Amino acid sequence: MAAEWWKKAVVYQIYPRSFKDSDGDGIGDLNGIIEKLDYLEELGIDAVWLSPVCKSPQDDNGYDISDYQDIDPLFGSLLDMERLIKEAGEHGIKIIMDLVLNHTSDEHRWFLEAKKSKDNPYHDYYVWRDGEEGVLPNDMRACFGGPAWEWVPELSQYYFHQFSVKQPDLNWENEAVRREIYEMIRWWMDKGVGGFRLDVIDQIAKEPDLKITGNGPRLHEFIRELSRETFQKGDCVTVGECWGADTERAKLYSAPDGSEFSMVFQFEHMDLDGGETFKWNDRRIDLVELKAVLSKWQVELEGKAWNSLYWCNHDQPRMLSRLGNTSSSYRETSAKMLAICLHMMQGTPYVYQGEELGMTNAPFEKLEDFRDIESINAYHQYVENGRFDHDTMMRYLRYKSRDNARTPMQWDDTENAGFTKGIPWIMVNPNYREINAADQMARPDSVFHFYQKLIRLRKEHEIVVYGHYELLMPDDPELYVYTREWNGEMLLVVCNFSDNERRFVFPEGLDAKKAELWIGNYPEAQAADDMVLRAYEAMVFYFGTQMRNRAEGTIYG
Ligand code: GLC
Repeated sequence: MAAEWWKKAVVYQIYPRSFKDSDGDGIGDLNGIIEKLDYLEELGIDAVWLSPVCKSPQDDNGYDISDYQDIDPLFGSLLDMERLIKEAGEHGIKIIMDLVLNHTSDEHRWFLEAKKSKDNPYHDYYVWRDGEEGVLPNDMRACFGGPAWEWVPELSQYYFHQFSVKQPDLNWENEAVRREIYEMIRWWMDKGVGGFRLDVIDQIAKEPDLKITGNGPRLHEFIRELSRETFQKGDCVTVGECWGADTERAKLYSAPDGSEFSMVFQFEHMDLDGGETFKWNDRRIDLVELKAVLSKWQVELEGKAWNSLYWCNHDQPRMLSRLGNTSSSYRETSAKMLAICLHMMQGTPYVYQGEELGMTNAPFEKLEDFRDIESINAYHQYVENGRFDHDTMMRYLRYKSRDNARTPMQWDDTENAGFTKGIPWIMVNPNYREINAADQMARPDSVFHFYQKLIRLRKEHEIVVYGHYELLMPDDPELYVYTREWNGEMLLVVCNFSDNERRFVFPEGLDAKKAELWIGNYPEAQAADDMVLRAYEAMVFYFGTQMRNRAEGTIYG
């Protein structure tokens, strides 16, 4: 396997609105990020994925771009962005920009032109269908609720939008659109960005008449052209956000020949608790299913593709509230357990801001506390059509809303968690008095220092990057146990996902006396052939010489 830098890297995702506000308007900004570069360097990460900061009416918090080549004044200026790229570089950190190429804002110059007339040169930049008012081209729905078609009376046409009405889909069939996009990307590359995250990129090759959105027929043709015309001309890391990816597609998206992207960011493990009412429920993810899905990706991609490892991002609730335990007795222990479980796998880990502090979901009380367009629209859709009553829907929103990940970063225990001197755009989680970066950095046994150590282990040991993965005890509903093997070395990773004490017997052929405990989330832990794991206990054992004798078959039977 080629040793590209990003295979050894750890990426930190920043949601700029909620990271650090430098000017007191209650919204995080680029200068706020610059203030915190020392913090990021101390954590040990290699790159920052920045959620969109380009000019935008903020209908979907920046995922609706009205000018790809300018910075939204909320976040700063182009000069601030250039300074961020430069200063981050001095801290050894690359900046990965979020490219939203499936759609623009309806306030983008292209769309304003496109709406003027059918003969306007920009008209065909978007997806239009003739029609009659009230008779939609078909029954396709938008991801944020409502029909995917919006009527423009002056043109007697509908335009297509997979997300909100303010996010018209671009027409990738039109070569002029593709050319403009490539030019824009090369312009950012010249500014020194280290890479790109490609928003909902598997939805660009749509065929609305056939009701195809994801994985359209020309998808890989478009992506290869995009990659050839842009990323391959420089040393960029690229990560494709692909909601519809399975492991077979992932081998195309992140083919080792570099013809598409560096890696894929997929959702199969995140969707495990979804269902008939999309994500709106309060089901827990089943550990046996989670292990099966994560292991499938580990095994099937090895040597053939490269995956992103993550528990959380700006579209997901906090993982600690979803899979861990937020009570004061177990919050830090379970946060560290989740971190071990993920960071010892193959792939590039992503740390979502605040995850390294053990941040949790927020106690939103009223609908007015939410800011996210998806959550608010979903509330209206499900409550107004009688599917859920108010209390049920509020419970689901509290558990699953994307706003859980978007509350301000908790820097210290001063007002507004040290995030802003103004009024924060969304509520600060009141638990900032206990959970904040200042406290975490001061305590050697904190979640922050645990992440720091896990990141260091990846840098120091190739086995963490390249080791061959094998799942043990697949049917155990509480323990997640796996091994990694590389050049005669072995790791045994043991995670107790429950609050029960659990007996754990070392796998046959692995001698606990030869195990070196790399990292564990309880003090005074040690290896024993027959041991009791405490609630949420997790450990990584290292064996300098491989115990397995391949000629005799696997030791685990
Ligand atoms: C992606 C983004 C999400 C956004 C959507 C539409 O899934 O991560 O935040 O709402 O695309 O751009």
